Amino acid sequence: MKTIILHGSPRKKGNSDTLVEYFINGLKQNGVKKIKHFYANELNIKPCQGCLTCATSVNHHCAINDDMVEIYSAYNDADIVVFATPMYWGYMTAQLKTILDRMEALAWEGFGNKTFIVIITYRHHCESTVAFFERIAPFFNIKLHILTCCTYNQAEQKDIPIKLCQDQLEEAYQLGIDISSIQKDIN
Ligand SMILES: Cc1cc2nc3c(=O)[nH]c(=O)nc-3n(C[C@H](O)[C@H](O)[C@H](O)COP(=O)(O)O)c2cc1C
Repeated sequence: MKTIILHGSPRKKGNSDTLVEYFINGLKQNGVKKIKHFYANELNIKPCQGCLTCATSVNHHCAINDDMVEIYSAYNDADIVVFATPMYWGYMTAQLKTILDRMEALAWEGFGNKTFIVIITYRHHCESTVAFFERIAPFFNIKLHILTCCTYNQAEQKDIPIKLCQDQLEEAYQLGIDISSIQKDIN
């Protein structure tokens, strides 16, 4: 059972990364070891150029040769794909969206039939990104689990330290345990 983590936040060990850490602890509790991390902000990934090489080539390959090559390979091998991102102006970060756009090359073959874990942190709203994943999941036969965490105290108008979001941290940990159990039964 293989897991890849796509870290969307430029803030390493920030809110979304901390939830990912708890999720991974849950996976590890059940013996999962094969976990690959991709920090979008640190990778050399060019935005999709819309050239449609992936649509028209026989093997649906992407024309751009950059760090996406490693993600394509790891994605193809993975059973579980984690998308972890804060909301930036109402959507996933540009860094993660750039990766997602480049996944167009997988949409022709190999994108679906996986388990997606979507971890979202936000201050005010996260509906657009939740709606996006809910919309594509049935089309690609994806088992979808979404965990959202509001990191803002609206009344006091200040950020909540992620370590105080105990319910969501526990939910992330439990999700790791549950997913690894379900996946073990499938494999
Ligand atoms: C540039 C920027 C834009 C943001 N835009 C939104 C937004 O539109 N909606 C929202 O709810 N939170 C927004 N936030 C707040 C972050 O989503 C929130 O603080 C999140 O917990 C940060 O997670 P991280 O530590 O993983 O980066 C924004 C933060 C930044 C830095």
